[in-house]
Amino acid sequence: MEEVLDIIPPPEVSLESQGKAPGRDRLIGKRILVVGGGQSVNTFDDNPPIGNGRASCVLMAREGATVVVADLSAEAAQGTVDIIEKEGVGKAHMVIGDVSTPEGCSGIIQDSLKALDGQLDGLVIGVGIVGAGASIPHYSAAYWDRVMNINVRSHFLILQEALPYIEKQPAGGSVVSISSISQYLPASTEPAYNASKAALSILIKNVAYQFAPRVRVNTVVPGLIDTPMGRSSGTKIKGRNASAVPLARQGSGWDIGYAVTFLMSGESSFITATDMIVDGGYVGMGSKTAKKPNQETGVS
Ligand SMILES: NC(=O)c1ccc[n+]([C@@H]2O[C@H](COP(=O)([O-])OP(=O)(O)OC[C@H]3O[C@@H](n4cnc5c(N)ncnc54)[C@H](O)[C@@H]3O)[C@@H](O)[C@H]2O)c1
Repeated sequence: MEEVLDIIPPPEVSLESQGKAPGRDRLIGKRILVVGGGQSVNTFDDNPPIGNGRASCVLMAREGATVVVADLSAEAAQGTVDIIEKEGVGKAHMVIGDVSTPEGCSGIIQDSLKALDGQLDGLVIGVGIVGAGASIPHYSAAYWDRVMNINVRSHFLILQEALPYIEKQPAGGSVVSISSISQYLPASTEPAYNASKAALSILIKNVAYQFAPRVRVNTVVPGLIDTPMGRSSGTKIKGRNASAVPLARQGSGWDIGYAVTFLMSGESSFITATDMIVDGGYVGMGSKTAKKPNQETGVS
């Protein structure tokens, strides 16, 4: 007889995952720039969830940091600054710039240094784009260039400009770039997105090598995360593919923000050149959809 596996219902989602936990003073005195610290808008959400970049800014300010929110969109950056100022713990500044050109990247760093009086302890680069998707015969060279430009070249240009300042800090510094589990899993119609995230991962390790021991450099690698960007690129519904995730839910922007916060803090001072995967177990153990649903709970 075929074995029927009971499925234990997932635990209640933690206060941290919901962005409702207080800070614990982990980043007092730190000055951190988040590039892509705003949040994209989709056309179908009246009450959108928080994005990865915005959640990172809010959590780091909640831990006592001064955060520069840099973004292409003034409205998006202002939205993040407003949340931080309302919470009233850390401080926030806003810098507007476009990472698609070297001048734009340089302008973001110089304006951020002015806002932070020249002290830059940490840098988070969250900016990343995903597009409409197309099979390889229909994937245009122009689109390939656009994705690689924003997802890889801009991270390189920002790092090139910022690292000389970060490495001067007496306590050294920390850098995080946001990648994606797409760096491992190519089953998509986004070849440039997959390739860009894989390239970003090895770029970050090269930077870690070149700047050790003064600067720690890591990626955070989100899986299926319920953000406006995630909903735009998924099925536009809250539960996008969640049944395939071993921890039985999508992550939140807060889950990503906590990984970023940890990597910015002294708690991670022996961690560099690593990919911190935050995906509910999807890459590490694969899908759990093979299990049978439990009749009583309906959890599948
Ligand atoms: N949501 C998911 O499911 C998921 C999964 C894996 C990886 N990621 C990665 O997470 C990262 C960001 O996620 P998010 O939720 O914060 O996204 P988001 O789209 O909400 O925020 C990105 C911000 O970058 C800004 N931006 C875009 N182009 C820019 C440019 N040229 N110059 C300056 N700023 C620009 C946007 O205005 C936006 O505010 C991306 O790198 C993405 O690839 C997301």
